[in-house]
Amino acid sequence: MDAINVTNLTKTFLSKRRRGRLPFTGERIGIKALDELSLRVKDGDMVGLLGPNGAGKTTLIKILSTLIIPDSGTVKVNGYDILKDSLKVRESLGVMLTGERTLYWKLTGRENLLYFSRLYHVPKDLARRRIDELLALVGLKEKSDELVENYSTGQRVRLGFSKALINDAPIMLFDEPTMSLDPQFSRHIRNTIRWLNEEKGKTILLATQNMLEADELCHNISIIDQGKIIVSGSPSELKAKLLEKRSIKVIVRNLPIKEIYTENLLNDVKWTIKESDDGQSIMLQGMVEDEENALSVLLEMIAKKSGKVVNVTVNEPSLEDVFLKFTGRSFIG
Ligand SMILES: Nc1ncnc2c1ncn2[C@@H]1O[C@H](COP(=O)(O)OP(=O)(O)O)[C@@H](O)[C@H]1O
Ligand SMILES: [Mg+2]
Repeated sequence: MDAINVTNLTKTFLSKRRRGRLPFTGERIGIKALDELSLRVKDGDMVGLLGPNGAGKTTLIKILSTLIIPDSGTVKVNGYDILKDSLKVRESLGVMLTGERTLYWKLTGRENLLYFSRLYHVPKDLARRRIDELLALVGLKEKSDELVENYSTGQRVRLGFSKALINDAPIMLFDEPTMSLDPQFSRHIRNTIRWLNEEKGKTILLATQNMLEADELCHNISIIDQGKIIVSGSPSELKAKLLEKRSIKVIVRNLPIKEIYTENLLNDVKWTIKESDDGQSIMLQGMVEDEENALSVLLEMIAKKSGKVVNVTVNEPSLEDVFLKFTGRSFIG
């Protein structure tokens, strides 16, 4: 059975548009957050939902957790329909959302977990034991009896993570779980997620903007962009789609960016061209089949214009390149 099965899911948000300096005029525009999106997650799998800011990750997770209602499409979690069997869906899920308002700031960390354990009808003795274990797991033992409003952002994220484990659900959804954490704790959370999947048999859907995180943890990755899944596969399958290509990157000085735009550089290559913040250098990056030919064309053009090459790199494809190939844009910005 599929743990998660999403078919043709669409969600449009109506958003008020601001005009000029006046407050809202009342005019509303539609933002399509999810656009006929389909996705399947098999029982026991660990799937990465990888996409840039605004791609629709949080919207999908909120729909899966029955927090918002879609416009159209069907969604099943653990075999249950999110609209007809929402209670069963919620029982099947442990969810960690981004945003700090998913916890009660006027309660302590322990009280928060106690509250959510009651909500999920976890028996009292079991809940007490589990809460102690979870607080230790996320390094909040000492902080457990302080109000959440006194926690740091990272501590709240960690408490939010432990909250997702309180009902020991078979399916877990994590929305950018390591976003505001320091590297050490990010590693700990990643290891814990891997342990949940490998040792405890949990099915995991992990939304992230972090390519390395998805690459490292997930058995399968679906790349999401503008509300659609653009490509899915295991990390190595995704990279194999590009194996015939290499990513080349050249950094050059003394060459105004407009000079490059007017050049006819290997028409079949999508180039990303960026100026450094100080305006002193330019980066050219593209996926090419024949790196020797591409490099000689580039270097010849640069020499002709008296530019100075600072750095040249040729790389095996990364997930970043997969994104570039399928969308024609680079992942960040
Ligand atoms: N409540 C909302 N009202 C209006 N627009 C929204 C709302 N929630 C999300 N959006 C828009 O939907 C798109 C997808 O957002 P989101 O699902 O949060 O993306 P992600 O989590 O991948 O960053 C974005 O363009 C965002 O601005
Ligand atoms: Mg999000």
